[in-house]
Amino acid sequence: MSVAIVTGSSGLIGSETARFFHQKGLEVGGIDNNMREYFFGADGSTDWNTRLLKQSLKNFKHYSIDIRNQTEIFDIFKSYGNNIQVIVHAAAQPSHDWAAREPLTDFTVNANGTLILLEATRLFCPDATFIFTSTNKVYGDAPNQLPLVEHETRWEVAESHPFFEYGIDESMTIDQSKHSLFGVSKVAADVLVQEYGRYFDLKTGAFRGGCLTGPSHSGAELHGFLAYLAKCAVADKPYTIYGYGGKQVRDNIHSYDLVNAFWHFYQNPRPGAVYNTGGSRHSNCSVLEAIQLIQELTGKSVRYEISEVARSGDHIWWISDIRKFQNDYPQWSYRYDLRRIVQEILEATKGRALSQAS
Ligand SMILES: NC(=O)c1ccc[n+]([C@@H]2O[C@H](COP(=O)([O-])OP(=O)(O)OC[C@H]3O[C@@H](n4cnc5c(N)ncnc54)[C@H](O)[C@@H]3O)[C@@H](O)[C@H]2O)c1
Repeated sequence: MSVAIVTGSSGLIGSETARFFHQKGLEVGGIDNNMREYFFGADGSTDWNTRLLKQSLKNFKHYSIDIRNQTEIFDIFKSYGNNIQVIVHAAAQPSHDWAAREPLTDFTVNANGTLILLEATRLFCPDATFIFTSTNKVYGDAPNQLPLVEHETRWEVAESHPFFEYGIDESMTIDQSKHSLFGVSKVAADVLVQEYGRYFDLKTGAFRGGCLTGPSHSGAELHGFLAYLAKCAVADKPYTIYGYGGKQVRDNIHSYDLVNAFWHFYQNPRPGAVYNTGGSRHSNCSVLEAIQLIQELTGKSVRYEISEVARSGDHIWWISDIRKFQNDYPQWSYRYDLRRIVQEILEATKGRALSQAS
């Protein structure tokens, strides 16, 4: 049987990938040790999702293993061997702020963990496609050097700039800017993934995500902005916006649309490819605009405060230009826009709050 190995399988992207590839007929080996709870506390726990996957997917096997454990990772890859058709590597320490607390943990999970998985692929299933969830944080704060203009509810790049119409493309430098330690560990992983494609001819691809989001996100203050905002709105908890007057812009892509992009890549991989992947001009908002939309959809006001202190290395304006991916995979298209994403997240958040209360 064809096997998909998914790391971070209980997280937002990993769980969507496990369901999607399982539905396409693959057996799925999911690797996740719920380290998200260690990073972000109870809000971040992904245990609920592990239970759901085990209950709902017939050909799913869960491995509660740390991706840094070379022996155990090699054992899993060895046991499936060339049956492994695709690896989607989505396990990570995903937060800027948390990385500064434990730089060694951040770097070893994001960089060393990726190297171990690439090496396992090269040794035990070299024909498999290897998909890596990279991040737009590999560009550090270079996007903040763009000519930005302040509007009533958001920052925007100047209309005269080439990035205005479609957003930021892959030509943006990843060098000589402030990345945060998280950005650095992801750069290391991103270039390793490219190198295993270019040097060893593995079928690797790095998807540099904007804001990846969806109802399966275990939103925590330090990671998962829309999911955490929805959680605060539903629980009537105050939300703190860090810096830029709440006008910082993120583009948001639903986990389904991202995983569908992985599926297209898997069927026709381009070794060493790098793609900016996000909501693009199709789906983006500032934090203030997201709050407005949630208020409109829930009919309730959201309590929030704006702290003057911005997150170090944070982007003021980010919109992904996704045309490179669209040109390579013209059959792919978005299913979700921002409104539908937020609606789904709100419904899931209310559902989870109710089930926890009962
Ligand atoms: N969510 C976003 O906005 C966003 C944006 C850009 C890039 N990304 C990247 O996409 C990927 C997936 O993000 P997500 O939002 O699904 O994250 P997530 O935190 O929801 O999922 C990651 C999962 O990996 C697991 N994990 C962490 N360290 C592990 C380890 N050492 N061993 C085994 N499992 C481990 C966690 O328990 C968690 O369930 C990450 O690489 C992240 O950096 C996310």
